[in-house]
Amino acid sequence: MLTQQVILAKTEAYVKNLLTGEGSGHDWWHILRVWNNARTIALNEQADLFKVELAALLHDVGDHKFHNGDETVGPRMAEDWLTKLQVNPDIIEHVTTIIKELSFKGAGTSSRMSSIEGCIVQDADRLDAIGAIGIARTFAYGGHKNREIYNPEISPELHNSFEAYKKSTAPTINHFYEKLLLLKDRMHTQTAKQLAEQRHRYMELYLEQFYAEWQGER
Ligand code: ADP
Ligand code: NI
Repeated sequence: MLTQQVILAKTEAYVKNLLTGEGSGHDWWHILRVWNNARTIALNEQADLFKVELAALLHDVGDHKFHNGDETVGPRMAEDWLTKLQVNPDIIEHVTTIIKELSFKGAGTSSRMSSIEGCIVQDADRLDAIGAIGIARTFAYGGHKNREIYNPEISPELHNSFEAYKKSTAPTINHFYEKLLLLKDRMHTQTAKQLAEQRHRYMELYLEQFYAEWQGER
């Protein structure tokens, strides 16, 4: 039986090797930040830290090849990996359930997390989508998809309504309105809510500055 510490170290190496250089926003550094966020949040919650850390480390392993694709790939990869390390089956079950719940991006917006450990990892992942880092990731993703950063010929109302635009052609700034500015109110834990406040405010200031510079005002 491997100790928890060894399992975490091996998992870290596995994920780092798998996701290094990944280009769609799920590179190793994203995982490392989510892992750190998750540990910070878990300090204030009654949660099983080992499960939180494993789920944080493994939460995006399926996305490197199948972004927007098959949602069963990630949980299966995590399960295979943890089985190989002979992790207790109950823990494997719990961790893969968290990853399944996280990767479910189907229709509606409300994905339910069935455990506190899952809530923590989802909050940690969402924190990395907002604030200064979130802004950087969003424009990186937009560039990856060949999108304009902004287009003033598209009216502001339309910027606020992603229904109005095919997601595939909308300028990157739309993503703030369709998702990033909504995340603050979707946090589960107190700690993440608090951390999200400052990151949210930073995005609002950023957008204000962005439009002012666009007009040559600042
Ligand atoms: P995760 O799986 O880590 O929760 P996503 O797969 O939803 O995140 O997105 C990865 C990164 O790409 C995030 O920073 C997100 O804001 C950005 N992103 C996703 N979709 C879009 C989009 N339509 N336009 C711009 N950025 C996007
Ligand atoms: Ni993620």
